[in-house]
Amino acid sequence: MVHYKIASMPGDGIGPEVIASAIEVLKKTADVCKTFTLEFEEIPWGTAFYKSTGAYMPADGLTTLKRFDAVLFGAVGAPDVLDSISLWGLLLAMRGPLQQYVNLRPVRCLPGIQPAVRSVKPEDIDWVLVRENSEGEYAGQGGRSHRGFEWEVATEVGIFTRKGITRIMKYAFETAQSRPKKHLTVVSKGNAQRYGLVLWDEIAEEVSKEFPDVTMDKMLVDAMTVRMVHRPASLDTIVGTNLHMDILSDLAAALAASIGIAASANIDPTRTNPSLFEPVHGSAFDITGKGIADPLGAIWSAAMMLEFLGEKKGSSLIYAAMDQVCKDGNVTGDLGGKLNTKQVTEALVKSIA
Ligand code: NAI
Ligand code: MG
Repeated sequence: MVHYKIASMPGDGIGPEVIASAIEVLKKTADVCKTFTLEFEEIPWGTAFYKSTGAYMPADGLTTLKRFDAVLFGAVGAPDVLDSISLWGLLLAMRGPLQQYVNLRPVRCLPGIQPAVRSVKPEDIDWVLVRENSEGEYAGQGGRSHRGFEWEVATEVGIFTRKGITRIMKYAFETAQSRPKKHLTVVSKGNAQRYGLVLWDEIAEEVSKEFPDVTMDKMLVDAMTVRMVHRPASLDTIVGTNLHMDILSDLAAALAASIGIAASANIDPTRTNPSLFEPVHGSAFDITGKGIADPLGAIWSAAMMLEFLGEKKGSSLIYAAMDQVCKDGNVTGDLGGKLNTKQVTEALVKSIA
């Protein structure tokens, strides 16, 4: 029997609502599998913690997290705190230092759910989006001078390193290689951005030579939005920079159904540090406390966590149960259903057997 210690960090807004669902589903899955046990410890970091202590996480927060096998995260962000403070205070304060340099976002249409756009057929979308998660446009380089003057200036510098690009490209090619289509699309903007993104393109070419069985094509990010809508079946594995994939993954989720089902994993492939699993959506202030949040994004992320820990049977059980509730129409309003968060969770837990 393998024992896993999981840090559960519900955070803000609908985070606690959807993480409670994910934990219920994980507990049932462990009961059914009988090959592993899960121990959850709740970590109370988030905006309430910030308001009482002045920081989103304690100074020794990273040391605390390193005791765990994985982190299950909800969302961070509050209406009365600047988003740049909450995001850098918690999520980006974990992703970078824990070297979770891969952000993995699978997207597929769940059975019975109609894609948002008429040109997209459900079977057309079965993608894995690989986002560079440690540098690029979100490296935190820049500053502000002459505050308040007419000539106030701010810089936001993108950082692209040979090491950073090479490791994300390798991961993306390996991911593409593991899938039936063995096809990778490299997203870039190496025409207008002529330094960092040109290095990005060059390294993609270099790494592609190590993977002769994977076909690669390249897309400029603007044209990529059009291809995702008009020729979705031509895509499989997609790799892009931190900013580009942040945007494209929201588009992908919306095309496939709803941001409420989108799942993600922040992975340290070297397994030196725990990886962090979280729904793609944020705090969703507009529906917080109403009990109607779609829990599937958090549940899907929980399944990715089991998969990463090596519990393939457990993750398969959850994926099958997700398909079942969608087929049965047991879904929340964002997917056209009538159930609330609790009812979807109950239906899903019931179908794990
Ligand atoms: P959001 O994802 O919170 O909400 C966007 C829209 O999608 C809202 O109308 C919301 O009701 C809906 N939605 C989101 N999740 C849903 C779910 N599970 N079920 C049903 N509907 C759902 O994005 P928004 O409004 O841009 O940001 C709100 C706050 O969340 C901000 O403070 C932002 O910084 C933060 N945020 C945090 C993220 C994270 O922790 N990873 C990611 C995105 C935003
Ligand atoms: Mg985003």
